[in-house]
Amino acid sequence: MQEIAKLGYVGVQSPAYEQWRTWAPEAFGCMLGPDGDDGAVRIKIDDADYRLSIHPGDEHRLAYVGWEVLSHRDLDTLVTRLDKAGANPQVAGRELADSRGVLDLVTFQDCFGQPYEAFCYQASGYKDWDPPRPHQGFVTGDQGLGHVVFVVPDARKAVDWHIDVLGFRPSDIIKLREPLGDMWFLRANPRHHSVAFLEIPELLGLHHVYLECNSLDDVGYSYYDVLGGDQNPDMLMKLGRHIGDQTVSYYIRTPAGFFIEYGWDGLAIPETEARSPRFIDVRKGKRPEMWGHEFTMQPNETVRPYKR
Ligand SMILES: [Fe+2]
Repeated sequence: MQEIAKLGYVGVQSPAYEQWRTWAPEAFGCMLGPDGDDGAVRIKIDDADYRLSIHPGDEHRLAYVGWEVLSHRDLDTLVTRLDKAGANPQVAGRELADSRGVLDLVTFQDCFGQPYEAFCYQASGYKDWDPPRPHQGFVTGDQGLGHVVFVVPDARKAVDWHIDVLGFRPSDIIKLREPLGDMWFLRANPRHHSVAFLEIPELLGLHHVYLECNSLDDVGYSYYDVLGGDQNPDMLMKLGRHIGDQTVSYYIRTPAGFFIEYGWDGLAIPETEARSPRFIDVRKGKRPEMWGHEFTMQPNETVRPYKR
């Protein structure tokens, strides 16, 4: 049971959407895809027409997370299971599917009411990779866009639902210091995690989206030469390397309120490997970082724009 193949796209709305037109290419070396029907600025990092869509709106808000399945038959099977799980699947009409740039689209909600979508066949045909500055491209392909991380009030509830209904598998767990709960990392393909949940009491929202570069140089150039590195007040986590997914990365607040983790060298787990999930217990003095990744903000500050 696994129809969800990978993370396809993420959409948010923000009054600062226009800033992305210059900020994202400068900060991350990514391209702009074709604008959305409503003027949404779209960020392109590979052969898909876009991977992030920043829509106009009065406040910072998550609009949708698009999960890719590999055929319309997989989508049909998924709809049946979503229906049984009470996830309210709705087959989208032509207009909505066109606005997402996909052929087949289903909208639904996760166990906390987060706006999810599943789709197959995303538009391409736009010039594949022609970055605005020298950049060696992003890791996508069978690992999808990257990963998305949510703050949730009950991580175990989110994990159970994503395993039972969407077919994810756990990769790792970090037990954080109170008042934080556990952080769970789930995968659907070789990428160490396509989704993760950070438990913070009474909070719900998008925390960050991960973009993975082919080259460490593109991460270093972005961090030091474009964004001002350690001196940037919007740098949530300074440059460092995780133990779990082994990514070298930093985390920066975007003009749309959520964070981008920008990194390199994330762990890919072969599909045939029956990997034993491990946990790191921060409560017992262990640190989930090989080096760096110094935090600069309190965890509950990181989802303020998305609090419900
Ligand atoms: Fe991450």
